[in-house]
Amino acid sequence: MAAKNRRVLSVASECAPLIKTGGLADVVGALPSALEPLGWRTRILMPAYPGLLEKVGRTRRIWRHDNIFGGPASVRSGRHAGLDLLLLDAPHLFDRPGGPYVVDGHDHHDNHVRFAALSWVGAQLAINGTSDRWRPDIVHAHDWQAGLVPSYLKYAGSTIPSVLTIHNIAFQGIFGPDQLDDLQLPTWDFHPDALEYHGLVSTLKAGMIHASTVSTVSPTYAHELTTDDFGFGLQGVVSMRRDRGELKGILNGIDTEVWNPATDANITNFDAENPAAKTVNRTALLDEFELDEPSGPLAVVVTRLTHQKGVDLLLEQLPTFIEAGGAVVVLGSGDPSYEYALSELAARYPRSVGLRIGYDEPLSHRLYAGADLVLVPSRFEPCGLTQLIGLRYGAIPLVAATGGLKDTVVDATPENLSNKTATGFTFSDIDAGGLGFALGRSIDLYQDQDSWQQLRAQALHAPVDWGTSAAEYANLFTELTS
Ligand code: ADP
Ligand code: GLC
Repeated sequence: MAAKNRRVLSVASECAPLIKTGGLADVVGALPSALEPLGWRTRILMPAYPGLLEKVGRTRRIWRHDNIFGGPASVRSGRHAGLDLLLLDAPHLFDRPGGPYVVDGHDHHDNHVRFAALSWVGAQLAINGTSDRWRPDIVHAHDWQAGLVPSYLKYAGSTIPSVLTIHNIAFQGIFGPDQLDDLQLPTWDFHPDALEYHGLVSTLKAGMIHASTVSTVSPTYAHELTTDDFGFGLQGVVSMRRDRGELKGILNGIDTEVWNPATDANITNFDAENPAAKTVNRTALLDEFELDEPSGPLAVVVTRLTHQKGVDLLLEQLPTFIEAGGAVVVLGSGDPSYEYALSELAARYPRSVGLRIGYDEPLSHRLYAGADLVLVPSRFEPCGLTQLIGLRYGAIPLVAATGGLKDTVVDATPENLSNKTATGFTFSDIDAGGLGFALGRSIDLYQDQDSWQQLRAQALHAPVDWGTSAAEYANLFTELTS
């Protein structure tokens, strides 16, 4: 039976649709409405970055403090896009130019203080409650930015359970031990079994040690995290939690209202039962980027341009793909060397390669809607959302077989095509050769339009919502609070 009126405090550094740099925001913004029917109501604590209070509109102050790590702060409660938000208004930490983590291409110099403050306030709200008489039954902390919440709870002697979800272990929240005092963390716990990480402090590791349960965003990534290749130095801690039965891999879903080709205002609508209008979006996308009609598939890439995402593998293989009849539109921003190399590729194939450097949410919808293929050749991918959005929009995912990509895409082998379980293309040798081979298979299958349409229909019907996974979180929360 579903729990009733139980309370979750979700602590995170971003949340869609208010502020987003990647999939973390999508997850933090989508989980509450999936948990609510299961009896768990969420309030999300996040920083009041510039302009957010104005976006949310009416808010009420539900907590204040004279001095949090160098300045006064308050928490204001408001609603936006169906979400219950608690905005940490600490101007000395969050009211400044730049994005959530970076300004002019460099990390904010005091990121460890900014997010330790977010975590400290999260713990205070959980322990003492808010002035509108709310106290959570459980705290759900996301990534290194909220990694210290379980630690602050522990050092305060609180028994409120906490879950730390690792969205990407590559980002660990590292700072020097000389900062411990300033951040109200005990120097006596600076040792390898607690706060210390190779002579430094890692907020992610701290959370992994102190949370009641550690979770991550796919079953395969949960396993990968225990290995030397994927654990980024923290594989020992992950393995320790796994051996105690305190590690979960819960697959992300997507918000199927936000990502709904039948109602999406950015595109010509279509749905899984009636995907014919997808071609209108395809033509519009070719027109928008002034590309010729390709004889092969139109692929898209929507991504942070980083090493993780395998952008170098794409750069190596796209010329062959294009010369074999494919076309591609890339939307992304990140590493300047990748941005430059992509602009060179677009200049070399102006009628086959479209490129938009930047972050553009509406354009991303047009890309998914118009594409035959979405390419995700990541070296590692905790879950990945772009392949899920691709499935939902009939853009067949072509993905590296790693992490959540492996858990969500079924390869178009002859057997899976004939038993109608295939939903995309996967490749296990995560290198340029592996990607090239998969791209070649997609070109071949595209020539057989009946098989292609069949594969697309299966992709369009693949489950991508939060249903099962929200129930797994709810069960975990129930277990930890009973
Ligand atoms: P990650 O969080 O590692 O970047 P995910 O696949 O989990 O990767 O999530 C990426 C999310 O960010 C998706 O919703 C994707 O559509 C979006 N996204 C990535 N880059 C851009 C961009 N340049 N413009 C618009 N949306 C983007
Ligand atoms: C991280 C991961 C990505 C995942 C997202 C949401 O950004 O890189 O794989 O989908 O978090 O959990």
